[in-house]
Amino acid sequence: MSEKTPNHELSPMKCPVHLEDVDLFSPGAQEHWYEAYPILHREAPVLRIPGEGFAPGTDGFILTKYEDISRVVKDPVRFLPTLNLGIQALLESGVTPEDAPRVNAMMASMATLRPNNELYRAHRQELTDPWVGPGASRHTEMITRCANRLIDNWIDKGQIDFIAEFARPLPQLVMANVLGFPEEDIPQLAEWGTAQVASFVHGKGHRNILTEEETRAQFELLDGFKEYVNEKVLEKRKDPQDDMISWLTQVEYQALGRKLTDMEVNGVVYAMIIGGLETTQYALEEQAQLICEHPGLFQDLKNNRDKIRQFTEEGMRLRSPTQGLSTRVTSQDEVFQGVEVPKGSLLHLRFAAGNVDPEEWECPYDLDLGRKAVTRHLVFSAGPRVCPGAGISRVEQTIAWNLLLDRLDGIAYAPGNTFEHQPGIMLGTLALKLTITKAA
Ligand code: HEM
Repeated sequence: MSEKTPNHELSPMKCPVHLEDVDLFSPGAQEHWYEAYPILHREAPVLRIPGEGFAPGTDGFILTKYEDISRVVKDPVRFLPTLNLGIQALLESGVTPEDAPRVNAMMASMATLRPNNELYRAHRQELTDPWVGPGASRHTEMITRCANRLIDNWIDKGQIDFIAEFARPLPQLVMANVLGFPEEDIPQLAEWGTAQVASFVHGKGHRNILTEEETRAQFELLDGFKEYVNEKVLEKRKDPQDDMISWLTQVEYQALGRKLTDMEVNGVVYAMIIGGLETTQYALEEQAQLICEHPGLFQDLKNNRDKIRQFTEEGMRLRSPTQGLSTRVTSQDEVFQGVEVPKGSLLHLRFAAGNVDPEEWECPYDLDLGRKAVTRHLVFSAGPRVCPGAGISRVEQTIAWNLLLDRLDGIAYAPGNTFEHQPGIMLGTLALKLTITKAA
């Protein structure tokens, strides 16, 4: 089968037709997300999830309108980030963050490096922007080298698994090089990366809750990651190289007037690994699918390279890698679309639905390379907490497509795709078999 077919039969859930059928979170829900969004927009743009708030006795609410999600993410005072609430609780507990049980390195480092909105901004500007934010173009040569090496491995084959042979290893290679990890450690780093995102893949409900046993297994695995990073931090403190970890061991964090401790460097590295791998993988994978589904698009992009940026942005808008996150709590009573949302409610921000909201986007389900101001999408969220790694992800996507267009004359679905999606909050298939035509 070389055409894309609906894969609803892979899901234990039936495809939603009415509001009462809509369930974004149960097993198999990901096969029906884009059938659920028009129903939610039409009938329940603000949907209550009883009893599933942040604190006992409170509710969750799914927001699917572009205007509501943008309002929330742009105001971290009125809509409190759950990470801040977690850090506040940690600080009030009196336990040293790095010794606190079930607190990962990122959370522990946040308690000292960015416990409030002002330090959050400083952290981003001073510590991550130069490497993975606006400064990410410094990696152009390295990313080009990594992408070309991957393409070399399969350019003479007629068929590939685009995920296993390109979309997954590219961000892995890039982040290992940015941070300064040896490439031979990538399989181990990938295993830790998988453990970090376990709750977003296997967690239950909109709060991504793991069982006690799953949480224990996750922390046990990640102890190994902490030790590994600590070793690297010690090595690089003594003998700095040209990489992000070495730089973090030396830099003066001006907002606090001091250098970072080993634990704090460890926490920043944790954040780079948790954010930097699967997200870009799925952006690339869905973009490849869009090319397969739109005859003539490959050639159009090949001949008009200035359209690549519009294509990657429009591709992410239409098939958002991070579909939704429950990461804000209301600090006062609110009203969204006429629905009363009490103080203390947990908001599930459905970025993917906001990105196809018909009140914001004309013909929202069309791939439109002429769409105006497409980067106002919520793929990376928006406002002061917008994804700190958007810069490097965009550079990776642009370089990847430029090279694929240089070195190929076309891609198409190969036989045997099931298009089964991975469970959890990310939109992405488990495999993507493509036939490829090497450039003449
Ligand atoms: C297509 C790729 C990506 C997508 C769709 C994506 C999406 C997002 C979204 C929606 C958020 C939530 C922001 C909020 O709460 O308002 C976020 C946060 C975050 N992202 Fe990304 N991201 C991507 C790539 C990356 C990369 C490459 C990195 C690291 C190099 C990264 C690191 C992070 C981190 C660390 C956070 C948590 C916020 C923080 O600690 O400051 N992301 N991302």
